[in-house]
Amino acid sequence: MRGKTRIAPSILAADFNELGEELRKIEVGGADWVHVDVMDGHFVPNITIGPVIAKSVRSATKLPLDVHLMIEQPERYIKDFVDAGAATVGVHVETCPHLHRTVQQIRGAGARACVVLNPSSPAALVEPVLGDIDQVLVMTVNPGFGGQKFIESMLPKIETLRRWIDDGGHDVALEVDGGIGPETIGRAAVAGADVFVAGTAVFGAPDYREAIAALKRAAKDALDAR
Ligand code: DX5
Ligand code: ZN
Repeated sequence: MRGKTRIAPSILAADFNELGEELRKIEVGGADWVHVDVMDGHFVPNITIGPVIAKSVRSATKLPLDVHLMIEQPERYIKDFVDAGAATVGVHVETCPHLHRTVQQIRGAGARACVVLNPSSPAALVEPVLGDIDQVLVMTVNPGFGGQKFIESMLPKIETLRRWIDDGGHDVALEVDGGIGPETIGRAAVAGADVFVAGTAVFGAPDYREAIAALKRAAKDALDAR
């Protein structure tokens, strides 16, 4: 069943000179989770942050950390990120030949297990483990950078996953990441997503509280209009 609408601002778009203050502003502004984008310069072209920064994010906010690992061999770093305070750890199917083992490793370390699909990866890759995970993340851009355009052709994949989650009675959140803003969130919500990552749409806005409220409102309006 669809969960409540959650907004997870991605700190990739935040001002890292003022990270503590940025986190405070999204927390009082109504954010539900903090999305932490980890990139290794191999699986994706960009390099971002590691467990050291994740730990300092943890100490600066009460919001749960949703850690998105865009790294090769993610199993090598799961424990480090859980120790740093991750509530959820997401791994890409494209990096996990032994996905069932890796999601067990995440849960065994004490975090929620999330499986992430690149735009070119089909929903079927996650179907066999839907009963073993807490979240699926459908990438709606190619991972690596913030500020990209939402890929509309991902909507049928979100619909398929919503159907499989509901039909199977799985307690699995359905998250989307990339190009989410007031213009796109409604379509993703109607397709079945209930967790929305937003970098530019929150940290690029003058008022984070208003930006988060606008996202929630746009999702609700689209769902109500169905
Ligand atoms: C992309 C990251 C996203 C990114 C989203 O590789 O996984 O989380 O920060 O940024 P926006 O919301 O600007 O598309
Ligand atoms: Zn992300």
